[in-house]
Amino acid sequence: MLVPHPRGPLTEGVVRALRGDGDLPQAAAASTERPGVLEDEDLQLALWMLFELHYRGFDDVPAESEWDVALLGFRAALEDRLEAELRALTKSTVAKALRAVESTEDFAEQLFVLIEGADGPSVAGYLQREATKEQVVEFLRQRSIYHLKEADPYSLVFARLDGAPKTALAELQYDEYGAGRPERLHQTMFGDALEGCGLDRRYGAYVDEASAVTLATSNVASLFSLQRRLRGAAMGHLAAFEATSSAPCRKIARAIERVGLPEVVRTYFDEHVEADAVHEQVAVRHICGALVAQDPALAEDVLFGAAACLAVDALAGQRLLDSWGADPGPTLTAEAS
Ligand SMILES: [Fe+2]
Ligand SMILES: [Fe+2]
Repeated sequence: MLVPHPRGPLTEGVVRALRGDGDLPQAAAASTERPGVLEDEDLQLALWMLFELHYRGFDDVPAESEWDVALLGFRAALEDRLEAELRALTKSTVAKALRAVESTEDFAEQLFVLIEGADGPSVAGYLQREATKEQVVEFLRQRSIYHLKEADPYSLVFARLDGAPKTALAELQYDEYGAGRPERLHQTMFGDALEGCGLDRRYGAYVDEASAVTLATSNVASLFSLQRRLRGAAMGHLAAFEATSSAPCRKIARAIERVGLPEVVRTYFDEHVEADAVHEQVAVRHICGALVAQDPALAEDVLFGAAACLAVDALAGQRLLDSWGADPGPTLTAEAS
């Protein structure tokens, strides 16, 4: 993958610095009051590029850039802005869930309550009901930003865990990585789905058209997973992701069939109907529940990670539906029931 096209002063500076053609913008440029961090495509793309140095990197950037001190410092300024916005956005949800945890002393149940209370728009419901073939394909292109590296952010957390939650994360990731069968690697299955639509399956192929919130969906998982202090948030994020996947995947599989895309396109989604019904239990009870049992101080951040995942997902879904002029229909809460 080559470095994406810049979308403003932050990304222009990052691209210059990555190519060794000039200096980064002043960190202050990122930390001044740029409104709406989640919808700031220049900021989200800059962050996405800097995180990407820890995943597959870019063919036109030296591998040593991963630990370049100036790049890391600039990334930290962007991360601070994103984390502050996520904390503000989820503050009341997290506080309410934390009070419930303290009164019931059942962390896993309260995490389920938080997740089930999410009321974002149902993109899957729209896709199933009335989306055109072009809209289903557009959905897959936007989703490719994350699904071609699906599960990878959470693997960065392994070394920060111990005991039961580590074992449970390994169980979940074993499935995500194909359970011993390379052709069942979920990233590969998503690539097969893209190819089945006649799309480019190469990693990052559609990053230049990814919206700010699509990039944010990926960035939030990276933000939480790359910092040890945020390991609780990373696992909460994973739990919310897994627990809001099975029912929507069933609807998306039906949408794919309805618009007449080939069978291979729906295989990825069929797989997730079954797999994520199991994964949500593993993630909520055996990873997050066990982690908080080991270290109760992590409870707030686990809830924060889950709430952040749901909030960003809701925003990404709303923006996609807005771009289609679509009626969101029933909310996620109704969809899950
Ligand atoms: Fe998966
Ligand atoms: Fe999963």
